[in-house]
Amino acid sequence: MNAIETTDLTRYYGVLCAVNHLTLSVNNEIFALLGPNGSGKTTTVLMLTTLLTPTEGSASVCGHDVMREGEMVRKSLSYVPQDMAVDIKLTGRENVRFFADLYGVPHAADRVDEALAVMELSDRADDLIRTYSGGMRRRLELAQALVHEPSVLFLDEPTIGLDVAARKRIWEHIRALRKKGMTIFVTTHYMDEADQFCDRVGIISRGQIAALGTPAELKARLMKDVITAKVEGMFALPDVDGIAFVGRNDDEVSFTVENGREALPLLADALKKSGCIVRSMSLREPTLDDVFLQAVGRQEEPHGFEFDKFRIMLRRRK
Ligand SMILES: Nc1ncnc2c1ncn2[C@@H]1O[C@H](COP(=O)(O)OP(=O)(O)OP(=O)(O)O)[C@@H](O)[C@H]1O
Ligand SMILES: [Mg+2]
Repeated sequence: MNAIETTDLTRYYGVLCAVNHLTLSVNNEIFALLGPNGSGKTTTVLMLTTLLTPTEGSASVCGHDVMREGEMVRKSLSYVPQDMAVDIKLTGRENVRFFADLYGVPHAADRVDEALAVMELSDRADDLIRTYSGGMRRRLELAQALVHEPSVLFLDEPTIGLDVAARKRIWEHIRALRKKGMTIFVTTHYMDEADQFCDRVGIISRGQIAALGTPAELKARLMKDVITAKVEGMFALPDVDGIAFVGRNDDEVSFTVENGREALPLLADALKKSGCIVRSMSLREPTLDDVFLQAVGRQEEPHGFEFDKFRIMLRRRK
C-alpha cells in the first residue's frame, strides 16, 4: 500500500479543469510537486487532504479513500498551508496545545513538549508568536503538524519568504522526518531545493503531470551540457546536429548539447546567421530549471508545434 495514491484524479472549477486525470503514487519519500502558478498544485493538495471534493477519479491516503473515509484520512495526515497557520496572539506552546486537543492526543502536555523540542523551539515556547522570526513560525507550524504523529505530511510552499539559512534549517527538519519513515508531499517553486532535498519530483502543467522522476533521472533526459544565449531580435532555431532546443524565457534561449565547448561557436554562428544579436552565451550543466522549462514550455506550445522550423519573435528591449 502506498501512502498516497491517485487514479485519474480530476477537479473542475466550473468549466476550468484545474487538475486533469492525475495518476500518482507516493510512498516513503519526499515528493515535490513543481509547477507554474495556477497549474493545479494547491488543488491537488486540497483534494488529498479532503478539503476539496474531486470531480472525477479517486485518491487514497494510507489506504483510506479521500471521499468515503475522510475522517481516517484526516487522522493519518497533517497539512501545513502556504499562508500562516498560527495564531500570533498565542504563545508557541498554546498554539501546539490547541492542535493536540483538536486531535484528542493522549498525554497532550508531553507530546506538545516533544514536538516543540523536535523543532528546536523549547526555549521560546512561552513567548508570543508575534515575537518569532519567519523561520521560527514555520518550525512552529511543523510542530503543530507533528503533534498527532501523522504518517503523511503535506507542505504547501514550506520555505517561501524565508532567508537561506532558515530555508536550510526547515529542510533539515523535513529530511529528519523522512528518515523516521514519514511520507512528505511538498509543493515548491524553488527548483534548487527540490533538486537538493527531494527524492522525487513531479512537474505539473495545466493540471497534468509533464515530467516525473528523481532529480537525477530528470536531468539525465537532457544532454550533458546546457547553453543559454541572451538574444535580441528575430532568430530561427538552428538546425545543427547535436543541438536541441530546451526553451525560452523572455530574451534567454536554452539549448542542450552533448559537448558544450564544441557546440558553443556553432550555435553562436547559427543564431547570428539567422538574424539576431547574441548578447551573451553561457555554458553549464543541466539543472531542474532546464527540465522545468522544457517540460512546461513544450506543454504550453500549440499541439503539433515544430520547434526546428519555427521562427521566434522576441520582444525587442527598449
Ligand atoms: N476556488 C476556485 N475557484 C475557481 N477557480 C479556482 C479556484 N481555486 C483555484 N482555481 C483555479 O484553478 C487553477 C489551479 O489553481 P491552483 O491554486 O491549484 O494552482 P497552484 O498550482 O497551486 O498555483 P500557485 O503556484 O499560484 O499557488 C488556476 O487556474 C486557478 O485560478
Ligand atoms: Mg498554490
